[in-house]
Amino acid sequence: MNIDVILGLQWGDEGKGKIVDYLATKYDIVARFQGGPNAGHTLIFDDAKYVLHTIPSGIFRADLLNLIGNGVVIDPITLAREIRELEGAGVDYRDRLLVARKAHLILPTHRYLDAATETANGASRIRSTLRGIGPPYIDQTGRHDLGRGDNRRPHLPQTYAQLKAKPMDPHNPYPPIPIDLEAEEAKWMDSLKVLQGLQQVDGEYYLHEALENGKRVLAEGAQGSMLDIDFGTYPYVTSSNTITAGVCTGLGVAPSRIGEVIGISKAYCTRVGSGPFPTELHGETGERLRREGGEFGATTGRPRRCGWIDLPQLRYSILLNGVTQLVITKIDVLNAFESLQAATHYQLDGQRTEQLPYDLCDVELEPAYESFTGWQQSLDDITDFEQLPRPLLDYLQFLEDYLKVPVTMLSTGPERQKLILKQVAVD
Ligand code: GDP
Ligand code: IMO
Ligand code: MG
Repeated sequence: MNIDVILGLQWGDEGKGKIVDYLATKYDIVARFQGGPNAGHTLIFDDAKYVLHTIPSGIFRADLLNLIGNGVVIDPITLAREIRELEGAGVDYRDRLLVARKAHLILPTHRYLDAATETANGASRIRSTLRGIGPPYIDQTGRHDLGRGDNRRPHLPQTYAQLKAKPMDPHNPYPPIPIDLEAEEAKWMDSLKVLQGLQQVDGEYYLHEALENGKRVLAEGAQGSMLDIDFGTYPYVTSSNTITAGVCTGLGVAPSRIGEVIGISKAYCTRVGSGPFPTELHGETGERLRREGGEFGATTGRPRRCGWIDLPQLRYSILLNGVTQLVITKIDVLNAFESLQAATHYQLDGQRTEQLPYDLCDVELEPAYESFTGWQQSLDDITDFEQLPRPLLDYLQFLEDYLKVPVTMLSTGPERQKLILKQVAVD
């Protein structure tokens, strides 16, 4: 068997959690491959709302196994809180939540370092979620002892104390950050026991065997392709590979094992945090998208920046990821719009281009738009593509022609069942 992938094609928050939760019943295992509690994946069903940060979005589906892969950075405190919430909701996760032994630990000092780096960067700060994501990845590439994960290793407190001596050095260049490190450490050590109590596996062997035995595996991405450490809007990115390539390093599966790549895009575009966003709208239309789309961060509550869908940007993400199917989410947010727009190319230095310049952070890119007629009706009672209003069908056809990828799913509301499938995405 191959491993299918679901990931975001924009700057995160595309609705990945909802789609993974929906499709999970078609799989045996859901595996998160990168990122950490900077992610906030929202699931809404049975009149309840859940936001997952580290735990894969298949956890609410009975009998399904959920693996936190080696590419993920785990904050034991956040994970313990998420587990308490699962317990509160009566979810039997015990034998279904697995952790790759090589998954990395977010240490109490990592949050400090995140905050200190951002403060030191002042106006040019990334506006990180401040969940301590970058520092463990830095420790890994810096080849520090704790960089190899293994939350059950002996002498972990001693190793941590040695590592901590470095950032806590009074000669370091970071500004002081008010943090009660001792209290954090006590909480962290306590929460670590919850993590250590979960079933630990060698993720790469585990998944290989599962695939060999015909099990269906879905890889769940966090963040979005434009936040990828290599191909995103650097330096305004996260610290991991959010693209399909990250599945191979974040789970230990070979590139030849990648099956369907299901890319998710909102019907418009959002970004939270600093950095370039060519189609951002600053006026009333941006406000309207934020209001109607409820665009406030699932992790931090911050208002998301809003703009029109950016097709050259999406084409770039499709190219990087090898997307085979496209899911358009939050289409209902545009229901009342008289007309909508999609950027089809840019003007750069008086020239027309359909490519994102490598130095996007340093240049002024002027998007050019095509306008579409709105459908101005609710989509609530529609169950298949053929019943969609003509203007919406025309718009979807335009997207498919431009992006050269089939749109196989349309999400028409935050709830689990609000999905229209064009063709069976996975059979
Ligand atoms: P993720 O990080 O990609 O999983 O996305 P988030 O959960 O951070 O943000 C997506 C938000 O949009 C959440 O509040 C979802 O409940 C909501 N959502 C997802 N799909 C739809 C949709 O089709 N329509 C509407 N109106 N909301 C949606
Ligand atoms: P999900 O999985 C949206 C953004 C932050 C910041 C930058 C770096 O819910 O889509 P970091 O905390 O990684 O140091 O922040 O990346 N960011 C996200 N934006 N959705 C996310 O995750 C994000 N995770 C990080 O706002 O600009
Ligand atoms: Mg999110």
